Amino acid sequence: MDQITAQNIQANLSEYWAPRLRVEVLDEVVSTNTLLKTRGAEGAPAGTVVIADTQTGGKGRLGRSFYSPNHTGLYISVLLRPSDMNPVEALHITTMAAVAACEAIEDVVEDSVSRPMIKWVNDIILEDRKVAGILTESAINATSGKIDFAVLGIGLNVYAPEGGFPEEIKEIAGAILPIEIEGARSRLAAAFLNHFFERYACVSNSENEAKQNQILEEYVKAYKARSIVLGKSVNVIPTGGGERRTAQVLDITDDCNLLVAYTDGECEEAMLSSGEVSIRPIGEIK
Ligand code: BTN
Repeated sequence: MDQITAQNIQANLSEYWAPRLRVEVLDEVVSTNTLLKTRGAEGAPAGTVVIADTQTGGKGRLGRSFYSPNHTGLYISVLLRPSDMNPVEALHITTMAAVAACEAIEDVVEDSVSRPMIKWVNDIILEDRKVAGILTESAINATSGKIDFAVLGIGLNVYAPEGGFPEEIKEIAGAILPIEIEGARSRLAAAFLNHFFERYACVSNSENEAKQNQILEEYVKAYKARSIVLGKSVNVIPTGGGERRTAQVLDITDDCNLLVAYTDGECEEAMLSSGEVSIRPIGEIK
């Protein structure tokens, strides 16, 4: 069986990050994000990473649940304490993690013909199937209005669960690997952490603004290059309820918002933020 172990993850972390991250692997939790939010409030240090083999109450975006069966998935939460980040900028954590997840999948799935892609804002797509999702939750400092700490959570369907995915998601969800490979889940976790922290460390360090901007520019370019919605027709679904509309995606901005032109009537342009809407490509993915 492909067991996740903290030792194997540590061994696959880069020389720089191995001593800086504190990785804990647990068999079962309700939600790694919830656990780490509690730890964050209690003062746990940045770089604390909790990984579980299964979650009984895995959380997705927009109040949805995240199916988290044992032995086949990888459920990771990372505690971050950016020094000077406002809540709007926190979207970069999610989108940076999306790029890192794609790169990690490429590292672990050798000679894969398919390129991992991103469905704005937080879904990782492989061969038209969602194989991972990201949920970042932040605690805001009431005085400064800045982020006190953030918990970045990612759930990856490494293998298909025994008996297949449940009815509700079986048309959407997919697995990263077709057969079990010993140590693959630990290597995937380490690759994700290496790729994520390589960029995040520069972006969260506001002392070197030029480097910060260069990394932001580079990763947004990488994010856009993997986008499955750029230039496509999509359904725009307001998260607070309301009318669903069709639109053409014109661009993903430097802030990772979506610039669209509505195609159902007046061709007006709009800037969409991830909190306001979810989107569904028309005819591309179930
Ligand atoms: C989504 O697809 O809507 C986001 C899913 C995020 C799931 C991960 S699994 C690890 C962490 N713990 C949670 O409860 N959720 C995130």
